[in-house]
Amino acid sequence: MRILSGIQPSGTLHVGNYFGMMRPSIELQDKGEAFYFIANYHSMTSLFDPAQRRQNTLDVALDFLACGLDPKRTVFFRQSDVPEVTELSWMLSTITPMGLLERCTSYKDKIAKGISPYHGLFAYPVLMAADILIYDSNLVPVGRDQKQHLEVTRDIAIKFNEQYGQTFVVPEAQIRDEVAVVPGTDGQKMSKSYGNTIDIFGEEKATRKKVMGMVMDSRTPQEPKPDADQNLAIQLLKLVATPEVAKDYTERLRAGGLGYGDLKKGLFEQYWNYFAAARAKRAELAANLDYVHQVLTEGAAKARAKAREVLDRAKKASGLD
Ligand code: TRP
Repeated sequence: MRILSGIQPSGTLHVGNYFGMMRPSIELQDKGEAFYFIANYHSMTSLFDPAQRRQNTLDVALDFLACGLDPKRTVFFRQSDVPEVTELSWMLSTITPMGLLERCTSYKDKIAKGISPYHGLFAYPVLMAADILIYDSNLVPVGRDQKQHLEVTRDIAIKFNEQYGQTFVVPEAQIRDEVAVVPGTDGQKMSKSYGNTIDIFGEEKATRKKVMGMVMDSRTPQEPKPDADQNLAIQLLKLVATPEVAKDYTERLRAGGLGYGDLKKGLFEQYWNYFAAARAKRAELAANLDYVHQVLTEGAAKARAKAREVLDRAKKASGLD
């Protein structure tokens, strides 16, 4: 089974990305042959700074490798290192009904947010379909926001197969329902756009300040807190501490006697320890970028071999070859 997913290079990742997307994708590498790529072509629809794109791409690569993506098992590469996808994207666009793209809510949402309505943004789902179909992908793990794009991909595959004969595998989406909704420092869902994130690999002092600055209510430390389970710091603690430690903090908070300052101090320590090994690994990788580039180059070579095979099949089917 081939598992494929693309990751937008939108900068360093936060704890919400880690529990929502990274950890589940990394765990999937045991379930089949995983292909993961950094969607730098797609990033061109919303990011126009070359240096930033280069930096973000490298940051995502470092973050994933540090957090356990194993390049021996997973084919890890940059989207643009397989230019065959753009050729396939054109071919797919010729059988993609305009109405299918016009219905895409993600395009409409982005326009509403002020992103320029360029053709690339509109055609984004077609390139995404090419990404998926060019590797004969069976399973595509994505967030809920990408569900419609997967439906578009399936429609395009079916349409092409009907037009030109059986060519593409019709993929299945695996929608990640947020197992853990990770709250941000203000209690809303952790998200870059809310400015409430805790970075996975943030600098120690700044991160401690963020954690200590989390707003709690004004009850005194002595007061029992029957709603301890809903406490923001407790929810975050549950993600990064052992069940025993999390339970201990929760019970002390519930009983009264544990102040919010001490709770947040505890949370920071647990968070810092949780990512300690990954942090060391990331520093090691950052000091050896040749290795990182080599991983991506080797990943691209493997991905390209598969892409070539499927593209040739599509060219034959459609009479280009
Ligand atoms: N659009 C996806 C996102 O924003 C990224 C992506 C691009 C992708 N190509 C893909 C995901 C192919 C899965 C498969 O998250």
